[in-house]
Amino acid sequence: MNVNLRYLRAILHDPEIYPDPEEFKPERFLNPDGTVRDDPTLSLAFGAGKRGCPGRHVVDATIFIVTSSVLSVFNVTKAKDENGYEIPVRPAVVIDREVVM
Ligand code: HEM
Repeated sequence: MNVNLRYLRAILHDPEIYPDPEEFKPERFLNPDGTVRDDPTLSLAFGAGKRGCPGRHVVDATIFIVTSSVLSVFNVTKAKDENGYEIPVRPAVVIDREVVM
């Protein structure tokens, strides 16, 4: 992971902004009334300034289209083990020995 991405990762895992930063908590991005929280820090995932990611709009639109398509057709739930207990979601992608997703 290059130095720039390490800085971005540190900001996006700041426990003062995102408590329990390693935990999968999508609700952290919602307001108490369920609307999506306006979070300017999040855009740092795509870098900033002249060298910021030009693909971010493609990514935003693609994720919206894919997510809304899946949720309109399927019920997404956690997998269950042989005893019927939910299997916790675990990070699946590891880069440079640091969990990033
Ligand atoms: C979730 C998906 C993506 C993430 C998180 C991401 C993130 C980033 C980040 C952090 C940078 C470095 C910005 C900086 O140095 O300040 C970057 C650069 C770049 N990204 Fe992405 N990116 C994504 C998808 C894409 C896609 C889909 C494309 C093309 C269609 C793309 C094209 C580029 C290019 C060309 C650069 C280099 C820009 C430059 O150096 O001038 N990215 N991206």
